Amino acid sequence: MAFDVATALQQRHGENFTLHNDYLNPQLAKVLKTIGFDRFYVKGEGCYLYDDQGERYLDFLAGFGVFALGRGHPAVKKALHDAIDLDLPNMVQLDCALLPGLLAEQLVARAHEGLRRVYFCNSGTEATEAAIKFARRATGRPRVVFCDHAFHGLTTGSLALNGGKDFKEGFGPLLPGATEVPFGDADALDGELRHGDVAAFVVEPIQGKGVNVASDSYWQSVQELCRRHRTLLVADEVQAGMGRTGKFFAYEHYGLQPDIVTLSKALSGGYVPVGAVLCTEKVYMSVYSSIERALVHSTTFGRNQLAMVAGLATLDAFDSEQIVERTRLTGEAFEAALAPLVERYEMLHAVRGKGLIIGLVFDKPESRALRMRWNALEAVRTALFSQMVVVPLFHRHRILTQVAADNMNVIKLLPPLVAGQEEVDYFVAALDDVLRDAHRGSGLLREFGTTMAKSALRRGGPKPVMANA
Ligand SMILES: Cc1ncc(COP(=O)(O)O)c(C=O)c1O
Repeated sequence: MAFDVATALQQRHGENFTLHNDYLNPQLAKVLKTIGFDRFYVKGEGCYLYDDQGERYLDFLAGFGVFALGRGHPAVKKALHDAIDLDLPNMVQLDCALLPGLLAEQLVARAHEGLRRVYFCNSGTEATEAAIKFARRATGRPRVVFCDHAFHGLTTGSLALNGGKDFKEGFGPLLPGATEVPFGDADALDGELRHGDVAAFVVEPIQGKGVNVASDSYWQSVQELCRRHRTLLVADEVQAGMGRTGKFFAYEHYGLQPDIVTLSKALSGGYVPVGAVLCTEKVYMSVYSSIERALVHSTTFGRNQLAMVAGLATLDAFDSEQIVERTRLTGEAFEAALAPLVERYEMLHAVRGKGLIIGLVFDKPESRALRMRWNALEAVRTALFSQMVVVPLFHRHRILTQVAADNMNVIKLLPPLVAGQEEVDYFVAALDDVLRDAHRGSGLLREFGTTMAKSALRRGGPKPVMANA
């Protein structure tokens, strides 16, 4: 009998963790079991996931940001079904197909007027790799400057631009000429750019790791410094782009005109891997500068029809459902609903971000008793408090969230952009409940301790969950 997905899922039901343990990444299986996140999800719809026990989960990870439209958006699904049924001549390769042209046209129409051309790939990290190559070729310069806490992907080029040490350990030597500067520090940037050998400053308009936001004046300086030193400004919009911040491109918040913009995650509605690099004419044509160089940078699956169809259907849904404007409004509603919690709970110091990329920033409380409890926790492991909030949010309230980065007491919320008041209210009530317990010092630690394997706690506790996006 031909392969049937429903039968496979039914016959092998419940073997998911064993199979991952045996054939894939056993460490992932282990950490998820340790914190009790080991579920057999059977369905995803809109903002929610469902497991085999019939439990519903509010998904504020959104697949690390790919499900901007929620899971299973009907228009994207239909477009993909139609595309398969049409038996499109996919990846002919020696061909200029229509659909990549249409998607490129749509993206260029949304970008600032200098961005005229698009290169399609399959992921965020590939988009970063292309940006590095394009910038080097366009400027003839070797170096790339990036920020502390930056995340641009995990292939060797983009890994060289990673602002954390853990991801890099043991994988070197990485790309030479990659230099880190503090995010938000224009003087440090100037100090590097003034050498005149920097091809690109690669930066996220809002950093995913830690949800860090820089001031308007910083961004003005960034634009000015890049122009003055003829360094290309590369905006990594893989996570913050596509409406996530309440503007289609996050760079719009600061009036920037980047020379290169990278996109990926949300572009294909969560269905098909895709990445896109938007460039100025000058940058692009420096790469594809002659007939001989027509394929000098390419990838086999880059313009595949399913990704293009999903991208076109996604952008159409963005327009017809006014996703960007809705995101802005839901972001404001979120901010307003969270504000009283910042007042109420000493450990919740701030809420930061824009639109629906939200960081809940926890830090040392004021009062003595709470501070002692906080210090005891932090002595076990840095940023354990935020992990202790993520776990009961999941177990008690069935909400999926993540610690924003290693060693950082920040919880990141990346809800689907179609989330509304119902989801905001549910989340805020759940957080209120968990923080109330943390303040009282009642069941939270016990609950956490019983969830976690005791041995793991003794070793210093597992690393924060899923901190890589
Ligand atoms: C800002 C940013 N850039 C690049 C990437 C890498 O994307 P991918 O995981 O598709 O390689 C990510 C992934 O989380 C990201 O958040």
